[in-house]
Amino acid sequence: MSWLHALIQGLWVILPAYIANGAAPVFGGDSRMDFGKQFHGNDLLGAGKTWEGFLFAITSGTFIGLVQVVLLPRLNQFVASFGFSMPQITVTAAFLLALAAMLGDVVASFFKRRSGTERGASVPLLDQLDFLIFSIPVALALTQITYFTVFLLILITPPIHYLFNLLAYYIGIKEVPW
Ligand code: CTP
Ligand code: MG
Repeated sequence: MSWLHALIQGLWVILPAYIANGAAPVFGGDSRMDFGKQFHGNDLLGAGKTWEGFLFAITSGTFIGLVQVVLLPRLNQFVASFGFSMPQITVTAAFLLALAAMLGDVVASFFKRRSGTERGASVPLLDQLDFLIFSIPVALALTQITYFTVFLLILITPPIHYLFNLLAYYIGIKEVPW
């Protein structure tokens, strides 16, 4: 399998996690996931983790999974002419990918607060890869992607994340461009 085929398969499978991660800032609200609690003198998670963002993210990721399930047969017909095939995905897998993505994001904020990093301050690589921490194991367990695909996803995600955040910043749904 070519690297391009492996990469496209990976992006297809991980899409619910990408969408979840991208959706959170759109509907970030005021209901803090840490309920304003502190831990060792710092916010437990910080004001950037809200239930609105979390739930909207998971709903969006699951919805994309549904769209993928509907589109897959036609898409596979289309990409077959390039010698490609897209892996199967289920709505349950999409839900779990989105949930895992948002849990990874929460865990990353937990550790950012423990190291005294302010909400929204950047920690390169962690900020771009946090949502993959748990969604990659879910993808490996529930879909037919290879370790090579995982490797490519880890490589390609920081630049993709960077470009989309820049876009989100300029259209005003993110306060900082990272
Ligand atoms: N967001 C949210 N709820 C979540 C995750 C994200 O409301 N569970 C929204 C918040 O508005 C947040 C934005 O999405 O500011 C960007 O998410 P992220 O970069 O993960 O949060 P930061 O504000 O950068 O905070 P942190 O330093 O904790 O990463
Ligand atoms: Mg951030």
